[in-house]
Amino acid sequence: MLYSREVIDEVLSRNDIVDVINSYVSLQKHGADYTACCPFHNEKTPSFHVSRDKQLYHCFGCGAAGTAYTFLQEYENYSFPEAVKYLADRAGMQLPEREMTAAEKRQADYDQTLKEINKTAAGYFYYQLRQEEGKPAMEYLKKRGLSDETIHNFGLGYANITRDHLYQYLKSKGYEDSIMIDAGLVRFDERYGPSDVFWNRVMFPIMDQQGKVIGFGGRVMGDGTPKYVNSKETRIYEKRRHLYAFQLARRSKREGFILCEGYMDVISMHQAGFDNATASLGTAFTIQQAMLLKRFATKVYLAYDSDSAGVSAALKAIPILREVGISARVISMRPYKDPDEFIKAEGAEAFEQRIKEAESSIMFEVRVASEKYDQQDPESRTEFQKEIVRIVSVLPSPMERENYIESIAAKYYIDKEHLTEEVNRYGAYRMERESYEQAVRSETPQEARRREQAAERKYQPQRLLLTWLVNVPKELFPQLQGKISPEDFREPFLHDLAVKLFQQYEAEGTVNAANLINYYENVEEQKQAAAILQSSLQFEPLPEDNEKTVTEIVRKVKQESIKEQMDHLSDMSQLQAFMQLRKQIPTWKITLDSC
Ligand code: GTP
Ligand code: MN
Repeated sequence: MLYSREVIDEVLSRNDIVDVINSYVSLQKHGADYTACCPFHNEKTPSFHVSRDKQLYHCFGCGAAGTAYTFLQEYENYSFPEAVKYLADRAGMQLPEREMTAAEKRQADYDQTLKEINKTAAGYFYYQLRQEEGKPAMEYLKKRGLSDETIHNFGLGYANITRDHLYQYLKSKGYEDSIMIDAGLVRFDERYGPSDVFWNRVMFPIMDQQGKVIGFGGRVMGDGTPKYVNSKETRIYEKRRHLYAFQLARRSKREGFILCEGYMDVISMHQAGFDNATASLGTAFTIQQAMLLKRFATKVYLAYDSDSAGVSAALKAIPILREVGISARVISMRPYKDPDEFIKAEGAEAFEQRIKEAESSIMFEVRVASEKYDQQDPESRTEFQKEIVRIVSVLPSPMERENYIESIAAKYYIDKEHLTEEVNRYGAYRMERESYEQAVRSETPQEARRREQAAERKYQPQRLLLTWLVNVPKELFPQLQGKISPEDFREPFLHDLAVKLFQQYEAEGTVNAANLINYYENVEEQKQAAAILQSSLQFEPLPEDNEKTVTEIVRKVKQESIKEQMDHLSDMSQLQAFMQLRKQIPTWKITLDSC
């Protein structure tokens, strides 16, 4: 860890989580908590809670939870040290310089070298394009209609035809073979030795949000195959997390984003003034990319190719965008193949008109479906109508559904009442399934594992006991003396959390939930811990009932713990003691003086 725990806690304590989160999403006071519609999933009614008291947030809809650090890691994609730095700056604190461990330093140096070598290569390609040898490449780009300014703005370049020219150049700059290979710029062949990965291609540097080169796409000049050779993924180049030309598009003054398929499309759109165009990196559009877009806009225009591959890619992107709360509209390129061709043939003004006429994603989905079915055949028509029902049912708002049903019914000559009825029936069924599926779908493998464990029920009392300990530490800790210790929390994660909680109480005589979470650097673990510590309890109206509940929980925890320990007993002389203890448990009684 880059900073000491004291520093991490101190930084957190000088930032109120309510203020931090409120600068991203507008919070409303709601009882003891602050609430908002969750920024991590799409919802209409607020289930995102922030507690000033505990300095934690928790979404009851999607399970997002954590401290201000977790929030920044999730929302801003910050690393943990970046989140610490951000909050320290925010509180006007100077962070102490601290030596990284040797391993951390190696890793940071390595990442830094990866960035440098990509930058060096980009400079080299850029230079080559402007040399005598680069002439055919420059001519190719000019023939595709790109201006000098555009070629410069996108940092386009050329990888020449000598098979190890870049290799020799990088070597002369002092780079090791291994880093060139790791960066995906050079490959090594047993027989022929090192050779460049990109060879006789025009080069498109791919940059991160800050404009640092992280990879390349290389296009053949003309009709050869493969059309593109792209950099492989590296530690700094994760294709699912980046978008092409996003360093430019995010600064655009235009409304929303235009999402294209190809690099050439994006460049051509920018040249025509649509500087909000971006594209995924030769791979399918991902939820991480949708979340990135969502941070800057709530509207996305799909400008995919008009062929069947483009249509099916659009059909896949729409639900992903919808999931993060972006309403997509689809721009028709017809009769042209893609945005690049459209702009060349019809110009920017005509494209502007196409943006205005862009079809809502629902109408697009319905139209694509309509083309699949023979409207004259009754059976086929029934299938089509069923598909309409499925499409419209994703809309959460009844008014919106109503409006779409009306348009669709009119456009496709379907009875409106009938359609409404079917949609309502299907909707109710779907909602139930979806919320479960969504919960399962959005979880990470760790979360899935933990869910299964929780489903075993037997760990539930342990979780609850932790929640009680955080909520009424002063009353409960003394009562557990000699009865429950961290050893009794058997599930590994709960055990770990219990150890920390007991230690904290012992050292400080109180519980600070947010600081406990600071022990976890991994976001998933922060979430898990926060979900347990943040849960508020359903206090019973009568104090005796609370005592009954806690007593019950404590007994269950101990019983389960003893049972497990007995199952794994190696020393039989302990058996007697366990059996003795087990008899006592039912006589235990927990009293809570002041709650
Ligand atoms: P033009 O055909 O020159 O207009 O190029 P384009 O950039 O518009 O490409 P296209 O629409 O054919 O493909 C969309 C994207 O898919 C490209 O920008 C690449 O990222 C990726 N892609 C296309 N062809 C290949 C290929 O042969 N190999 C790989 N790895 N990726 C490809
Ligand atoms: Mn294209």
